[in-house]
Amino acid sequence: MGPVRDADDLMAVGHAYQRAMILFAGLNLGVFRGLSTGGCDASALARRIGADPGKLSVLLDALTALGLVVKRGKSYRNARPARDLLLPGPRSMESILLHHLDGWGEWGRLSDAVRAGRTPRGGAEGSWQENFIRGMEEIARERAAVVAGRILLRRGDRVLDLGGGPGTYAVAFADACPGAEITVFDTQATLRVARKILRERGAAERVRLVEGDFLADPLGGPYDFAWISQILHAYSGTDCVKLLRRARSALAPGGRVAVQEFLLAEGKTSPPGPVFFSVHMVAVTGGGRAYTSREIAAMMKAAGFRKISADPPDARGVGILRGVK
Ligand SMILES: C[S@@+](CC[C@H](N)C(=O)[O-])C[C@H]1O[C@@H](n2cnc3c(N)ncnc32)[C@H](O)[C@@H]1O
Repeated sequence: MGPVRDADDLMAVGHAYQRAMILFAGLNLGVFRGLSTGGCDASALARRIGADPGKLSVLLDALTALGLVVKRGKSYRNARPARDLLLPGPRSMESILLHHLDGWGEWGRLSDAVRAGRTPRGGAEGSWQENFIRGMEEIARERAAVVAGRILLRRGDRVLDLGGGPGTYAVAFADACPGAEITVFDTQATLRVARKILRERGAAERVRLVEGDFLADPLGGPYDFAWISQILHAYSGTDCVKLLRRARSALAPGGRVAVQEFLLAEGKTSPPGPVFFSVHMVAVTGGGRAYTSREIAAMMKAAGFRKISADPPDARGVGILRGVK
């Protein structure tokens, strides 16, 4: 969806949430899992998943229009994108989409957050943490191996994955350099989910997990390399500098840091992914937003890092800044 040029574009933006909600309702109701055992009509599916058959048929027709379901006669079955991406499996995006649905209430209060300059925290109960951390795994799994190939680690290097979430990057670092010692530092709630994910991947023994609040608790160390991926956008500039200073203190002399983020271009109105993600942070965090490469470099400098350099962002606007203690 590009910039608005006319009334049709404007209405498409105004209606965009309807398509998202059709997809989310399909996921939330278990439509795709319900159809994974075989195609059927709306009444049979309604019995399988517990729904009103008449209303479900309207939703199924809309999912058909979105290309996620195929309708033949009165029978519905999953279309290929639903089979590949919305069911459990190596390419599943189910959790990250449910994580977006979890943010729905906060997005509904976006104008309140902007007006008040803060976000009333809601939500972090039930399946929220599970969807969030499994979602992080889904969006990191392809990129992690690429990144790990670019971060040169040596045998014996002590690596800190700060806010490492599901451990996707940590495992990729362990794969890229089997002799490195990898520590994931994250909250208790996140590591409860990470432990399950690592066990499912058969990687539980490959990384060390340390629970704590990275703005308050000791980070351990010394480390030779600190990896800080998709963390700063959840925090104000002041907290980002504090976190970077704490990471720097945990590094051995000459230790390296790399910060990965969705990067805004100068002017902050492009690329679209980071621009809209920044609004997501306004909606769901107390003081976060996306930053430009220059802003992050300035934070790293304020925290005491030197030799700061930036790798160019990828097609989604994700880039890496590096520095040395
Ligand atoms: C967006 S996820 C990024 C996960 C991972 N670094 C990645 O790039 O896939 C942010 C992570 O930071 C962790 N986090 C946020 N605030 C934290 C804090 N105060 N202390 C420790 N971890 C924190 C979250 O639990 C979550 O795992």
